[in-house]
Amino acid sequence: VIDIRKLYAQTGMFTYDPGFMSTASCQSTITYIDGDKGELLYRGYPIEQLATNCDFLETCYLLLNGELPNATEKEKFSSLVTKHTMVNEQMQFFLRGFRRDAHPMAIMTGLVGALSAFYHDSTDINNPEHREISAIRLIAKMPTLVAMAYKYTIGQPYMYPKNELSYAGNFLHMMFGVPCEDYKVSPVLERALDRIFILHADHEQNASTSTVRLCGSSGTNPFAAIAAGVACLWGPAHGGANEAALNMLYDIQKEGGVEKIGEFIKKVKDKNSNVKLMGFGHRVYKNYDPRAKLMQETCNEVLTELGLEKDPLFKLAKELEKIALEDEYFVSRKLYPNVDFYSGIVQRAIGIPVNLFTGIFALARTVGWIAQLNEMIGDPEYKIGRPRQLFTGSAPRDVKPIAQR
Ligand code: ACO
Repeated sequence: VIDIRKLYAQTGMFTYDPGFMSTASCQSTITYIDGDKGELLYRGYPIEQLATNCDFLETCYLLLNGELPNATEKEKFSSLVTKHTMVNEQMQFFLRGFRRDAHPMAIMTGLVGALSAFYHDSTDINNPEHREISAIRLIAKMPTLVAMAYKYTIGQPYMYPKNELSYAGNFLHMMFGVPCEDYKVSPVLERALDRIFILHADHEQNASTSTVRLCGSSGTNPFAAIAAGVACLWGPAHGGANEAALNMLYDIQKEGGVEKIGEFIKKVKDKNSNVKLMGFGHRVYKNYDPRAKLMQETCNEVLTELGLEKDPLFKLAKELEKIALEDEYFVSRKLYPNVDFYSGIVQRAIGIPVNLFTGIFALARTVGWIAQLNEMIGDPEYKIGRPRQLFTGSAPRDVKPIAQR
């Protein structure tokens, strides 16, 4: 590893590395990925152990503080989050400005950005106490905002948070509850959703996290920095991939299902088609994404709980995966399923509409964004992010009067 800052100071040299293929943008102690082994650790703990033995709020505590909480710390953290789940009633008026058919990520980008207007007591990103309370507020309010965005698009009344429910259980209640009925949270769905949150909580310097770091490096309002992350996550090459993966499965299903996989794969391999196998491939994982394995397990559990074991889309996904993993095109490029390949099927089974999948991802990734932002700001050596460029435009020239142009 070359410390390019020293090289620049000594020689004036800088590197040209579009897409950051080989440039570390920071030092971090939060998440470790070994892409060749297919290994993911949060603060040193394997994702498999966290997804099996911990819940999402414990994972949040770990990402933010570096250690898993003991029982007292967990209780204190959970009740603090629970205390902050409501959003200002003014947010309803802001929400009403959106068209009912707006994409939930358009709404989420706006709503999270709008939070920056409400908390004048925590706008100083350089103040550790401000960062701490902003972290709690964001983790607590994201489920409320996602559920509000959903209820708004379907024209149902908003459901207020319920303090006695778990983080995931409360989200299910706000999404699927209605004021006239008692909503019973299914423990299997609650656990599945909690696992989805854990698996998406952080993933080191991905595009949205790097966006949050770059945005936050100017010292901006922490809620505004997170809104930038939401905007970046929306894209189909990043958080939008689970939505795209499920739509792809629907399309293959419509065309004839399992029998049409061969034809679809042919299209993917044709470089002129611009068709990708969504939910496959990853910048860092050149082996099976460990989250995809856990997600496949969760998919099995949820479908069994709901009596959907024979779900044709799940069958199609498994067959598609099998065929792709034996195909030279995917093998030679080390393309394996990523977390998004199965997460759409789980979410659809839970009842989450396809266009809200990326919103769920944003909800879960919020803690990662904040942990990374706070790590950066807490580093005494942090500087505003300011990439260099390789200029390829015009040489200096003179402006001609408009009549001569
Ligand atoms: N389907 C078909 N071909 C693919 C796919 C895919 N899903 N992914 C990569 N390739 C091919 C590329 O065309 C390229 O082929 P070439 O060498 O013949 O030109 C080769 O594999 C290398 O791919 P790159 O695009 O250079 O890899 P990169 O690291 O830039 O992209 C990415 C990674 C964006 C995730 C890509 O694999 C992709 O678009 N996948 C589908 C979208 C997706 O699932 N995104 C979710 C990522 S995980 C997340 O955000 C949570």
